[in-house]
Amino acid sequence: MATPAAFQPLNAQNIQRALSTKTLGRTLHVLEEVASTNTAAVALAQDRAPHGTVVVAESQAAGRGRLGRHWHSPSGKNLYCSILLRTMPDREQQPLWLSWIPLIAALAVSRAVQATTELKPSVKWPNDILTGNRKLGGILCESGGIGTAHASVIVGIGVNVNVRRDEFPEELREIATSVMIEAGLPCDRAALLATLLVELETRCESFLAGNHGDILEEYLLRCSTVGRRVRIELAHGEHMDGKADSIQADGSLRILRDDRTPVDIRAGDVIHLR
Ligand code: BTN
Repeated sequence: MATPAAFQPLNAQNIQRALSTKTLGRTLHVLEEVASTNTAAVALAQDRAPHGTVVVAESQAAGRGRLGRHWHSPSGKNLYCSILLRTMPDREQQPLWLSWIPLIAALAVSRAVQATTELKPSVKWPNDILTGNRKLGGILCESGGIGTAHASVIVGIGVNVNVRRDEFPEELREIATSVMIEAGLPCDRAALLATLLVELETRCESFLAGNHGDILEEYLLRCSTVGRRVRIELAHGEHMDGKADSIQADGSLRILRDDRTPVDIRAGDVIHLR
C-alpha cells in the first residue's frame, strides 16, 4: 500500500509538483540532514545563488532560533526551510523592507497553515506562529551585503508539523504544539511548503509594489498581540509591562505603559500576559 502524502519524506519531486510560484523554490535544495538550513542558505547566498533559492531539510543538527536559542529539529516530521530573497526596494525603502520581512513571513506561514488544514494560527508580534498560547512555528531572518549589488535576506522558517506531544522534549511540551496535535490529522509537508512559498511570494511582491497598508491590515487580522497586556523582555533581565496598542508603519509594536506613555518596540521578546 502507498504511504499517505502526509508521511512521505520530503523530496524535490513532490515539492516541485505542488509548487505554483514564479521564483521562490524554483532553485531547490532538499537535504537529509544539515546543521542549519539558514547557515546553508547564507553560504549559498555568498556563492551568488539566485533569488528564490530554497533549502529544506529533513532534520537539523544545530537548528537556530531567535536570540541565540536552539530550534528543536527532529527528523522527518517537521518543516525546516530557508528562503533566499534578493529583491530590494530603493535605498531609502530598505530599512522598512528589512523590518517588515519577518512579519510578512509570519503572515504567510499562518495563511499557509490555514489553507492546508483550516486551523487559523495567530501571529505573536513580531513573528511567532501560535495556536492558542502554544508555539507552532518561528522565523529567523538574516541579512547580508545590504547596500551592495549582492544584498540578500535569508528567511528561515520552522514549523512543527507532524510531531506528537510526547515527542517534544519535556521543557517544550507545555509551550509548543504541532499542526497534527491541533488539527488531529497529519499534514502533507510538501503541500504546506508549496503553499507557504506562494503566500510569501505574493505578499513580498505586494509590499514591494507599495501596498504597505494592505499588508499591515492583513497582519493585524492575524496578530494576537495587539490589544493584550504584554511584557517586553529587555536586556539584563529587565522587563517592561503595558498594553500592546498598535503596529506602526515601520512594523514596530507600540506599547502603552501603565502611565499611558507610548513606547515603540523594534525588536524583542514579547510575553502575552493574562
Ligand atoms: C524562533 O526562535 O522562533 C525562530 C526559529 C527559526 C527556526 C528555523 S528552522 C529553519 C531555519 N534554520 C534554522 O537554523 N533556523 C530556522
